[in-house]
Amino acid sequence: RIIVTAGPTREPFDPVRFITNYSSGKMGYALAVMAARRGAEVVLISGPSSLPVPPGMDFISVGSALEMRDAVMSCLAAATVIVKAAAVADYRPAVRAENKLKKKQGPLVLPLERNPDIIAEIGAVKGDRILVGFAMESENLLANAKAKLFAKNMDLIVANDLHQTGAGFQCDTNIIKILDPRGGIEEVPLMDKLDIAGRILDRVKVLIDERKC
Ligand code: PMT
Repeated sequence: RIIVTAGPTREPFDPVRFITNYSSGKMGYALAVMAARRGAEVVLISGPSSLPVPPGMDFISVGSALEMRDAVMSCLAAATVIVKAAAVADYRPAVRAENKLKKKQGPLVLPLERNPDIIAEIGAVKGDRILVGFAMESENLLANAKAKLFAKNMDLIVANDLHQTGAGFQCDTNIIKILDPRGGIEEVPLMDKLDIAGRILDRVKVLIDERKC
């Protein structure tokens, strides 16, 4: 049973506005679809996305990072694998106004507070479960990804680079590096996100087989 998170989160500061990012959900949905094709029971937990809900899996729609954390934690006990492709907002507005904020003279200052680090929370309690994270970086791709891999107790991290054409947000393709805690780095060239998902799941399968021994 695999949990896949996908898409952005939305962090509202009044009834009509929110902070978010450019994630389309394509990478996470491709992982969910490929995992289902390979026989996994899939729970897809998605932030707002215009993609159709893929058939053959449980689907949980969430808005904010807090909602995503609640959804992931409520499914965790039954899961063998967790893949966190979602682009979760690290901060949310500290206050959500009840009514639409009105324009005033001068700048608007919005205090932000930290969102929970969902993958770090999973890493702390995961036991034998296989935890795969993503790292979206705009500089020092490998060093930053490696730091996240260890700090959050992941089994694999998939690094993608914001500045590479054909990689990351929105596009139908990706270019990734898969890092493991033994220092291995697998470079996966430009390919469709569905094929990228297949390459990531190949690595997950190896870890599942190792744990059976
Ligand atoms: O959705 P697409 O348009 O297809 O784009 C795909 C993608 C670029 C969003 C995807 O490939 C990707 O890189 N997802 C992770 C983006 C990200 O938030 O990276 P990060 O380096 O900030 O986070 C590291 C890891 O921690 C991620 O697995 C993230 O899900 C997780 N995280 C981050 C913050 C937080 N508060 N909680 C988390 O669990």
